[in-house]
Amino acid sequence: ITPRAAATANGDDLDALRTAAMGCRRCPLWEPATQTVFGEGPQNAKVMLVGEQPGDSEDLSGHPFVGPAGQLLNRALAELDIDRSTLYMTNAVKHFRFERRGKRRIHSKPQMTHVTACKPWLMAEIENVRPQVIVCLGATAATAVFGAGFNLMEKRGRWHALDDGTRAFATVHPAWVLRQGEGEAREAAYRGLVEDLRRLLDDRR
Ligand code: URA
Repeated sequence: ITPRAAATANGDDLDALRTAAMGCRRCPLWEPATQTVFGEGPQNAKVMLVGEQPGDSEDLSGHPFVGPAGQLLNRALAELDIDRSTLYMTNAVKHFRFERRGKRRIHSKPQMTHVTACKPWLMAEIENVRPQVIVCLGATAATAVFGAGFNLMEKRGRWHALDDGTRAFATVHPAWVLRQGEGEAREAAYRGLVEDLRRLLDDRR
């Protein structure tokens, strides 16, 4: 079953889409991964957050943004008084891509072919949830949503309109913030993430 067929056959049923995605073989990433990590959140969410791909914890648990990056994101959302349970959270790529180093599984960035193969699932999620706002976390998500050639560091934190009128913006990925070390650089990166996410409060003013 194709994502679009699942979406149309089942009307607005996200669960059916999720079930169909569990058997996805559109790219080779399914094989070494534990499971498909599909998006989660209310069907009528106003805001959709799109990340890169599940990490180690997400692959094992089956839920998006539950590992270290997800915890940092939780902290940023809490600081802005945004209730995570109101958001629909998903990823551009729905299987964990990694390299094995002994017992460890090291995150490996998805390639364009993986993003392209997975894109129908993201499109079907967008069609089903019909969010008012899409937030791209990191360059992979921004590429999936805005297309190749989107310069994240130049355009982050600014509203853009998608072809269907949905408003969207991009910011850095919380895992990138975690990679900035321990000191001031990380704090500055974190503050930047929070300031970009503050755009979500624009409508509340
Ligand atoms: N990083 C992502 O991009 N997505 C997740 O779900 C977790 C970490």
